Amino acid sequence: MRLAIGSDHGGFHLKSEIIAYLTEQNIDYYDFGAYSTDAVDYPDCAAAVAEAVAGGEFSRGILCCGTGIGVCIAANKVAGIRAALCHDTFSARMAGEHNNANIITLGERVIGPGLARDIVGAWLAARFAAGRHARRIEKITEMEKKQGGKRT
Ligand code: RB5
Repeated sequence: MRLAIGSDHGGFHLKSEIIAYLTEQNIDYYDFGAYSTDAVDYPDCAAAVAEAVAGGEFSRGILCCGTGIGVCIAANKVAGIRAALCHDTFSARMAGEHNNANIITLGERVIGPGLARDIVGAWLAARFAAGRHARRIEKITEMEKKQGGKRT
């Protein structure tokens, strides 16, 4: 597994904490920035990570911003991305087991570093349950295909 990770300025410190966790766990990652707390626009880092995951270069991605909301909205505009905002470990596990989320997003202004580490661990450990959940995800993929090129 190779992870893509990114943040805006509002998620920079939380991203750094998650990178420390990934390093401790010997999980391979690439950091798409931000590389400081200088202000940047969250759709830019979300697009970089989402396109890298959707393109198959990375199997999964993690995005941080102040709330986790902006990067989640932006990442979900990329076809093939199922980004889930997770601020508790139950949601993180369900995002993996039921939604096959290929990106999770977290907010630095919402949760602390310890919980963020547990959330990332829960999501990484989760295995997609497939079955009826696969049928539902296929319906989302069909929505993407119908939507192709239209404004949302
Ligand atoms: C930046 O101030 C903040 O708006 C951003 O990090 C994020 O919370 C947006 O959803």
